[in-house]
Amino acid sequence: MNTSRSIIIDTDPGQDDAVAIFLALASDELQVLGITVVAGNVPLELTARNARIVCDLGGRPDIPILAGCDRPLLRPLVTAEDVHGNTGLDGVEIYDPDIQLRDQHAVDFIIETLRSQPSESVTLCPLGPLTNIAVAFKLAPDICARVAEIVLMGGAYFAVGNVTPAAEFNIYVDPEAADIVFRSGVPLTVLPLDATHHVLSNKPRLDALRAIGNRTGQAIADLTSFYERFDRRKYGSEGAPLHDPCVIAYLLKPEIFESRFVNVEIETSSELTRGMTVADWWGVTDRQPNATFAGGADADVFFELLTCKIANLP
Ligand code: RIB
Ligand code: CA
Repeated sequence: MNTSRSIIIDTDPGQDDAVAIFLALASDELQVLGITVVAGNVPLELTARNARIVCDLGGRPDIPILAGCDRPLLRPLVTAEDVHGNTGLDGVEIYDPDIQLRDQHAVDFIIETLRSQPSESVTLCPLGPLTNIAVAFKLAPDICARVAEIVLMGGAYFAVGNVTPAAEFNIYVDPEAADIVFRSGVPLTVLPLDATHHVLSNKPRLDALRAIGNRTGQAIADLTSFYERFDRRKYGSEGAPLHDPCVIAYLLKPEIFESRFVNVEIETSSELTRGMTVADWWGVTDRQPNATFAGGADADVFFELLTCKIANLP
């Protein structure tokens, strides 16, 4: 019997977050227990609304959506409207869907779900700053041992930073939260820019999504067409790196990614390198490995998987 893998997606939608959520909803190998929302790409009020829009477009009004932390643990919130637009979901129509947020705080949902589900049966999939996860771990340390795995998008090593020369956005926004998560001892897989920068959209790949003929394929093409202008201008790349969907693709087909089990620690004290993920890729320290860190990805297999799965949605 095909047993599905239970996941909680923690997210700051964001066009690429939206694609990740669509991919998860389209995959019967995964059971999405809930979507917890955090401030990141845009403020919490907008990321929460955007998560509702994505589940509405995906035809899944049943999915619990819960709002979480509206700012990092210690630092002022840094957002990314320059990348994602003022709505955070530029590229599709913005509307107020019937789906409503659950009343419970996202952190309480994470704690309650991990305590009630069988131990080591739930995978956490953070796609934004790690504030919700870190607060849950601090409020309820007992849940750490109950997490099957954390598979997150964040960080960079050879690819260096995208928000500063040293740091990737999700880690940069809340480095203290990332430090708590990376030191938690929970089995950890990291999809950093080193991997996600290989997963670039381009015209044939977006045309294939449009050719599916459903609204989610069209939405992904429209979202990505907006989102890619930033990377085209900054990197001169052909298209946009689909960062967050790499987390879901890893759950479905880990062989898409090359990775190595290494020590990764988070810079929290230096303002110059705040949020840097210091990956001991070459094993030059005696620091214990704590993360499976992806270094490469097969974009063709990724987009073949994405296009095949999205056909399952409305
Ligand atoms: O650096 C890329 C990450 O920052 C992605 O998760 C994107 O959605 C933004 O949150
Ligand atoms: Ca994100």
